[in-house]
Amino acid sequence: MTAQQPKPRPEEAPSRPAFATWLGGTNEITRMFLAAGKVPGLINMAGGLPEPETYPVKELAEIAERAVSKYPQESLNYPPIEGLPDLRDRLAARFSNADLRLSRENVLVTSGGMQALDLIGKVLLNEGALIAAQSPTYLGAVDAWRPRRPSYRLFSPDRNDFDPVAALTGAQFAYTVPNFSNPTGRLVGLARRLELVDAAHQTGTWLVEDDPYGALYYDGTPLPRMITLSGAKQSGEIYSGPLVYMGTFSKEIAPGFRIGWVIASPDMIGALTIAKQGSDMCTSGLSQRVAVDALDAGLLERTLPVILDVYRHRRDALCAAMDEHLSEWFDWEKPVGGMFVWATAKNPAMDTDKLLSEALKAGVCVSPSSVFDPHGEDRRSIRINFTLNTPDKLAEGIRRLATATQAIGLD
Ligand SMILES: Cc1ncc(COP(=O)(O)O)c(C=O)c1O
Repeated sequence: MTAQQPKPRPEEAPSRPAFATWLGGTNEITRMFLAAGKVPGLINMAGGLPEPETYPVKELAEIAERAVSKYPQESLNYPPIEGLPDLRDRLAARFSNADLRLSRENVLVTSGGMQALDLIGKVLLNEGALIAAQSPTYLGAVDAWRPRRPSYRLFSPDRNDFDPVAALTGAQFAYTVPNFSNPTGRLVGLARRLELVDAAHQTGTWLVEDDPYGALYYDGTPLPRMITLSGAKQSGEIYSGPLVYMGTFSKEIAPGFRIGWVIASPDMIGALTIAKQGSDMCTSGLSQRVAVDALDAGLLERTLPVILDVYRHRRDALCAAMDEHLSEWFDWEKPVGGMFVWATAKNPAMDTDKLLSEALKAGVCVSPSSVFDPHGEDRRSIRINFTLNTPDKLAEGIRRLATATQAIGLD
């Protein structure tokens, strides 16, 4: 037996290996507003959260109970990496149409849309690779890809001089949220969708269409998905084009479900499946089985009209309060759907990182534009969520935001 080594005194303990360097690039402001969400009395208009009152609790509980007792193998075993065949088939059927032929091989079930973003980064990005991203860009996507230290070419489809071929050429992929973008709540119009799809076919660049809000149209007729426009360019066979479409049940049913999906060419689905094996091996079988049964029971058709009514009313309440209290300082457009209003300060000297500090003092939280800029430079806008709070709370939140804006002391 060897003599016992004396224990090192605390000050002599060996230093631990440092955390990976990409963690140093995470954003202070993000941490600040995530923490602020938990402060009592604070009105949180920062997140992208659904109204929990809209969750179909009773029906989901019944479906879940039945799923475990009737399908114990599917619900409780490890399901296939790609997802339960029944769910892949339902999703292929849901998104197929005259222009887009889909089969199970075109579908990967993911643990929320967030995992789809992570997997896309894993299969397409080497260190420092170039991403063409619609600007401003969803914060979660920037976070998902940060470990690869990508570089960004930002593009704005809203601009008259937008050149889709120049935007996409040479990038590993282009990232867009064409329906009610997070953060701006705006739509990419049909002409721009067609141009982006043409550019993807011409350049070969993968075009990622991230679509969590596509079911949340409060007014007007939904625009065609870009993957459908891309499918129209192909005849006969199942889809094999450059579009990578992402969806999720987070905003239509409930985020705790963690069911998302990717629809893409079979070779892309194959690559993402390899990446998923090393991430979580599979998405919860129980959630997937419940999703299949919920779809078959027509749950979406029943709940969606209720959700749309609640959110339409809240959007109107928010915009009315903004008209009354914020129009002196900000410009915005009333969104046709989604969850957000994007307001841009009239005065270019506005710093919305500073406004966030004042807003927190006044008891309200909104998201500043810097977190949606991969370069961290845009300080002129804010994203305001209208789905989580009642109309009264939205109005009170906007009054507090006006107090905070006044305190900044700009014209
Ligand atoms: C644009 C966008 N993509 C992806 C996601 C991720 O959604 P989830 O992981 O809840 O499916 C969100 C969530 O807010 C989003 O806004």
